[in-house]
Amino acid sequence: MAKIKHTFVCQSCGVTSAKWVGRCNSCGDWNTFVEEVVSSKDTKNNASISSIGHVEARPFRLSEISIKESDRLDTNNGELNRVLGGGFVPGGITLLGGEPGIGKSTLVLQVALSLNDKKVLYVSGEESLQQLKLRALRINKENENCVFLSETSMEKILFHVEKEKPDLLIIDSIQTVVTEHLETAAGSVGQIRECANLILKTVKPLQTPTLLIGHINKEGSLAGPKILEHIVDTVLQFEGDRNHLFRILRSSKNRFGSTSELGIFEMEQTGLREVINPSELLLSNHDMQLSGTSISCVQDGMRSFMIEVQALVSSAAYGTPQRSSTGFDIRRLNMLLAVLEKRAGFRLMAKDVFLNIAGGIKIQDPAMDLGVITSILSSNFDLAIDTRCCFAGEVGLTGEIRPVNRIEQRIIEADKLGFRRIYLAVSNPSKLKNIKAQIEVCNVRRIDQLVKALF
Ligand code: TYD
Ligand code: MG
Repeated sequence: MAKIKHTFVCQSCGVTSAKWVGRCNSCGDWNTFVEEVVSSKDTKNNASISSIGHVEARPFRLSEISIKESDRLDTNNGELNRVLGGGFVPGGITLLGGEPGIGKSTLVLQVALSLNDKKVLYVSGEESLQQLKLRALRINKENENCVFLSETSMEKILFHVEKEKPDLLIIDSIQTVVTEHLETAAGSVGQIRECANLILKTVKPLQTPTLLIGHINKEGSLAGPKILEHIVDTVLQFEGDRNHLFRILRSSKNRFGSTSELGIFEMEQTGLREVINPSELLLSNHDMQLSGTSISCVQDGMRSFMIEVQALVSSAAYGTPQRSSTGFDIRRLNMLLAVLEKRAGFRLMAKDVFLNIAGGIKIQDPAMDLGVITSILSSNFDLAIDTRCCFAGEVGLTGEIRPVNRIEQRIIEADKLGFRRIYLAVSNPSKLKNIKAQIEVCNVRRIDQLVKALF
């Protein structure tokens, strides 16, 4: 066997060094050197010969290439299928990232155990077989074709993959596996990259769909090198607040489907439940009308749903008023407060403002603005808003209400859920002509017009 050589490569400028250095002599960046394996000539030759054996490598015309949608592996999970674009693709590598404890292992175990007639190899580098069994008991599902391996050595894992030839391979997590080629610790940039490359080389010829679990770092991006995101075909992010029940699955990259799809789950005692109609859960079902709440009709990806916005405006007890927001960008809140002050004449400077979005979900739709200012004004006046009204509109710096995207879809969703009135920016009426809905559409041009209409 050829001897494996090591080198250290600067991740910023690509300069190589025989030993690790803290600061790159070439570009001057700190902590950018990562250990890498240099494949010798022998191994290179082997790789190219073996790959010719597996793949018929010749150029094809478009007409010669057939796409069989049926080749996809159905995950038996509607929300996951929706985000993946219809299931796992043969040979496709999916990376599932998320904070610790969010439910990544639960989701993949649930999928593994629901694929009854498929062979699944679940490799866990984090948990023992007993821990996996306990989780499976909680989920209360069984699949005789699913086998578990508690292992961290990449070479041993790939040996089992080649032996078992599973229909689905799961590795939990990419940060725990190590290759013998490198001496660095598990989870280091070099290890993650090398392991991902080894997985790629093994599963592509076998056409095994592979699901890798990845941790995310403090900044919220996937820990490990950015290159990992380039190697894999699909990147999924599992988000949510651990103290809340809702979890959102998004894809930030998908070579086989749309990235605007969204999956919603609820964490229950027996695992994750698919949420088909999120609006019903995100609205607290109180019949009493309370001040400080309003309902926004938001759009995330391809889905529209209703979400409750709660605000509390009170006199500031200390010199500097407090502004606090959960689930909504605090800078955006400050901007909306400034617009209310300057353009509509509300004196909120000396008031504390607290904002909360139901369900612990972070929504980035600008259409939330209208609901946010409505609930702030409602709390400020201590006047309740009719719970059968909803809002969708972006607020501009001059106090104008601006139209938002997918307006038809929002109106249809609000109508379906029995809302009586939806407040929107003045939009093109010809667009709304074909919508058959009972709901009354109220167009508002500016904040002051909205205030007059509501209070
Ligand atoms: P886990 O899947 O271990 O998270 P991750 O792999 O992302 O680190 O799930 C963590 C949480 O989920 C844990 O705090 C317990 C909770 N949980 C349930 O509420 N119900 C269940 O059925 C299971 C299996 C876990
Ligand atoms: Mg886990």
